[in-house]
Amino acid sequence: MKLLHLDASALGANSVTRELTAAIVARWQDEVKDLQVEYRDLDANPVAHLTGATLGASDAEAAADAAKVMEQFLAADVIVIGAPMYNFSVPSTLKAWIDRIAVAGKTFRYTEAGPQGLAGGKRVIVASGRGGLHAGQPTDFVEPYLRQVFGFLGISEVEFVRAEGVAYSPQHRTDAIAAARASIPRPLARAA
Ligand SMILES: Cc1cc2nc3c(=O)[nH]c(=O)nc-3n(C[C@H](O)[C@H](O)[C@H](O)COP(=O)(O)O)c2cc1C
Repeated sequence: MKLLHLDASALGANSVTRELTAAIVARWQDEVKDLQVEYRDLDANPVAHLTGATLGASDAEAAADAAKVMEQFLAADVIVIGAPMYNFSVPSTLKAWIDRIAVAGKTFRYTEAGPQGLAGGKRVIVASGRGGLHAGQPTDFVEPYLRQVFGFLGISEVEFVRAEGVAYSPQHRTDAIAAARASIPRPLARAA
């Protein structure tokens, strides 16, 4: 089984989502024999933003990296993503990665019956960190967005490990991380 581990937090060692993605991946490593893990730190090693130059092949370095991003995504059975909430949405570094995996003809296509996802069969686990409380609220542009993106690509199995209200107080942060750790899905249990 192949697992792709992505972090996007800009907060380094103080990051909630980095701690949680590490815990999720450690659980998979403990429980899944012969797990192959690939890692990309989208903060330290960002994907180029989509621009006219990087969308075409005129920027050869960006084109080669985009091909690598797509290859890693398509090969993965499980994708563990650290998704901090920055200004109500995902970090732009994570958005830049998403812009490289949502590619017509590769991961989705349009048919006469509407769009069709081509990347089904994967499992996505998102470590979600927020300073405030947003789950289920109209202020949450992270979870519905990620469900929509991956659903559009054919991936309906998207699970969230949530640490909310981490900025309220140190105690809130400690409790939220403990609750998130306790909710890490088991590798062999599938989401409903
Ligand atoms: C640049 C920036 C923007 C943020 N924007 C929001 C926000 O819109 N809403 C919120 O509840 N928390 C916000 N926060 C708090 C983060 O969501 C919180 O610190 C969370 O732990 C981030 O995950 P991380 O620790 O892995 O980076 C923001 C933090 C930063 C650094």
